Amino acid sequence: MIAMQTAAAGHIGLARLEPSDGAALLRLFYRLSPTTVYRRFHSPIVRPEQAHPERLLDIDHHDREAVVAVVDGEIVGVARYVRWKGTDRAELAVVVADDWQRQGLATRMLSRLGDLAHSAGIQSFTASVQGDNRPALELLRRFRPSARPVFSQGSYDLTLSIGPE
Ligand SMILES: CC(C)(COP(=O)(O)OP(=O)(O)OC[C@H]1O[C@@H](n2cnc3c(N)ncnc32)[C@H](O)[C@@H]1OP(=O)(O)O)[C@@H](O)C(=O)NCCC(=O)NCCS
Repeated sequence: MIAMQTAAAGHIGLARLEPSDGAALLRLFYRLSPTTVYRRFHSPIVRPEQAHPERLLDIDHHDREAVVAVVDGEIVGVARYVRWKGTDRAELAVVVADDWQRQGLATRMLSRLGDLAHSAGIQSFTASVQGDNRPALELLRRFRPSARPVFSQGSYDLTLSIGPE
């Protein structure tokens, strides 16, 4: 139960996603604009099942982790990593509901996720960002100023070190 785990800071809290949080995750999908969905999934999907919810809920808090931002029991943002099998690297993805963007939620979730990843032995995040996705590029540049995006086939690939800069 997300609401039980939330450590409130003001009325916005952070929690770790649990496999049982499918209903709240589904409601988040319907709060996302088509552009936000496209930025997150790199595909113009219109139905939540196209986002493979079974994978999004496959959390083990070690190789697969997700931090959510919660307001009044509703998920309004998710930052997650999935470890590249057998390595100390993990793929990062983040999304914030449109009406909650630009309020520092992604920054807070990334900070918490980075701490959890570090504890799980992950040394770096990898991320793929569409070439014209300036908000995400700025977010990740702020998260890890040392990151050097590499442009390839319309997207930027980034490697972000975990732990203190
Ligand atoms: C990218 C995204 C996660 C940012 O979430 P957010 O909660 O709005 O980010 P924050 O409020 O923490 O912003 C942190 C910094 O990122 C940059 N940023 C965020 N949104 C921006 C925007 N619309 N334009 C320019 N810079 C932006 C700014 O530098 C911002 O700091 P500032 O507000 O002090 O200037 C959000 O826009 C989103 O969900 N986009 C769609 C999904 C996506 O692109 N995911 C990334 C690929 S997986």
